Amino acid sequence: MPPSLAVRLGSLEAKNPIFSASGTFGYGEEMEAFVDPGVYGGIIGKSISQLPRGGNPIPRVAETPAGMLNSIGLQNPGFEGFMKDYLPRMRDYGTVLVVNLVGDTIDEYVEMARRLNEEEAVDAIELNISCPNCPEGGMEFGIDPRATEILVGKVREVYKRPILAKLTPNVTDICSIASAAEQGGADILALVNTYLGIAVDWRARKTILPGVTGGMSGPAIKPLALRAVWSVARSSSLPILGMGGISSADDVLEFMAAGASAVQIGTIQFVRPKAVLEILSDLERYLSEMGVTDISEMVGTLHSDFVVR
Ligand code: SIN
Repeated sequence: MPPSLAVRLGSLEAKNPIFSASGTFGYGEEMEAFVDPGVYGGIIGKSISQLPRGGNPIPRVAETPAGMLNSIGLQNPGFEGFMKDYLPRMRDYGTVLVVNLVGDTIDEYVEMARRLNEEEAVDAIELNISCPNCPEGGMEFGIDPRATEILVGKVREVYKRPILAKLTPNVTDICSIASAAEQGGADILALVNTYLGIAVDWRARKTILPGVTGGMSGPAIKPLALRAVWSVARSSSLPILGMGGISSADDVLEFMAAGASAVQIGTIQFVRPKAVLEILSDLERYLSEMGVTDISEMVGTLHSDFVVR
């Protein structure tokens, strides 16, 4: 019998541990030509804000060795546009559906969460408190423990299903932000969003991204993300949805051993849009080879006695 890939993050159950990371998957339709979005354990669409956003000037991405920088600027159709034009299609994918929300103010997050609370097809919301590319909101909330706790707490008052807090690594102590999200009432911690960086065209004496900085993702950040997941797993009792440079089944199992209950894949989908299929089939094979019958047995199994801090 093949091993069970089913996972549980608190009350959120998924048929496998692979979620699509917000912003790398549109709202699913773009991916349909490559892969049935229903094969993922869960899908998380691009951040939705109350009003539509056109995003930043181009270029919005810069390739780097083993990764990329992005500064998209949260382009999205706005809450009403999403509800009308995208959500109906996403409902039919037959997998866990998580809506990622971003706002300039607490009230904006709360208003959207209140509306989604009425929408039974949405299994959970992910609060983007970690976008490094917007002048207001986003990461502003996620770099300050008090702001994180207040925001999550206000959303908690109006949203009854699971709340994911998506954390930024661009802080001195991510564990204090994780703990603030937990205090506020988050159910799941999603980490990490991108690392701030810049790309330079020295001949032109200009940065490649017009907004100067961007968020770095891809395999180059995996060791940094693993360390963040491992640290938070040791300090928090909440389940973790880990991410950061995951591109193979080995990477998935590394994150799970470090303490993630499930993972999000992102940048790899720009390179290999069908990556989820290979990852799922390799996961089954590796677990069978190891004699593991249930993938959840892998969570948090890293031996800390061998770990140097
Ligand atoms: C962006 O849209 O600029 C990136 C979003 C994010 O990193 O949360």
